[in-house]
Amino acid sequence: MHAEPIGFKAKAQAAFAGLESEPGVRKPDPILVVDKVVRRFGGLTAVDVDHVEIQRGSITALIGPNGAGKTTFFNQLTGFDTADAGEWTFNGARLNGVPAHKVARRGMVRTFQLTKALSKLTVLENMRLGAQGQKGENFFRAFVQSIWRGQEDAITERAEQLLERFKLDKKRDDFAGSLSGGQRKLLEMARALMVEPELVMLDEPMAGVNPALTQSLLGHVKDLRDQGMTVLFVEHDMDMVRDISDWVIVMAQGAVIAEGPPDTIMSDSRVIDAYLGAHHDAPLSQEEAELQLQAAEAELEEEAGIEHAEPTEPNEPAEPAEPAAASEEKKEASA
Ligand SMILES: Nc1ncnc2c1ncn2[C@@H]1O[C@H](COP(=O)(O)OP(=O)(O)OP(=O)(O)O)[C@@H](O)[C@H]1O
Ligand SMILES: [Mg+2]
Repeated sequence: MHAEPIGFKAKAQAAFAGLESEPGVRKPDPILVVDKVVRRFGGLTAVDVDHVEIQRGSITALIGPNGAGKTTFFNQLTGFDTADAGEWTFNGARLNGVPAHKVARRGMVRTFQLTKALSKLTVLENMRLGAQGQKGENFFRAFVQSIWRGQEDAITERAEQLLERFKLDKKRDDFAGSLSGGQRKLLEMARALMVEPELVMLDEPMAGVNPALTQSLLGHVKDLRDQGMTVLFVEHDMDMVRDISDWVIVMAQGAVIAEGPPDTIMSDSRVIDAYLGAHHDAPLSQEEAELQLQAAEAELEEEAGIEHAEPTEPNEPAEPAEPAAASEEKKEASA
């Protein structure tokens, strides 16, 4: 009598049944439709995507070798950079030229390859910033004003619920700078959800994450889909791609070169060729990672209009001889 309950994954994958595995293939119910998006840097064409559609309610992986243009493509779509050409629609409405914080408030958010959390703000304060959308000149001012207008109650309540879901509630009043790399990734994902998005774009959610947190992060990504959100994520870890994605899109040299179900894509010779000799996950040195992190923080602080008050972390241990476990943690935190 009763139909078998269909799992979320099976339901998401059913939407792709019968589609051709070819670049630009039309989807039955796309939430995002991209046409002829080009971004050049001098003589380099970093992105040249002819047509791509993201199916609503699914988890789509965007893969490709280093320098393929994945992050640059995310930057165009989410208003963090200005494309030289092209147009794209989200839920049928054009998004070209819409600034990042407005894109976020329309329901399309992204996280960063290099996690952006404000070290000198607490975890809860970082979450409340998320409610304002991302970036934008009035980003921080709006946040401060909302406190005085007494609007923070609903925002704080939502932040606290999300922190609990991401098991960061005990860190609520800690400085974001004291979190490990994996916890920062969780914070960034939780913060993105403050605007109650429909489409969540994750740029390398697993990069630099301690294996102990990997399963938890994977679970959170699947949860997003199971709660009705659409997920588009960039990842180099093919095990993760195979495990959680319903559909895979491959970029190389700025263009989409293949699309299809995970198993089809992983055995596609064009994909293997694009990766062979091109992909390397050269780990950053601790010093390089720390420099990159500082640069990202400085950029975010500048956007938020925060003054540089103190040169050192408030809860940085004084020195010397750290035990092995502590220095591991520190290494991860800077990754
Ligand atoms: N602001 C910029 N100025 C000049 N060139 C840039 C800029 N941003 C990216 N590029 C170049 O554009 C190309 C695409 O870079 P992008 O970071 O988008 O690649 P990616 O696919 O995200 O790579 P990875 O997997 O290593 O993160 C690269 O050649 C990169 O050097
Ligand atoms: Mg990238």
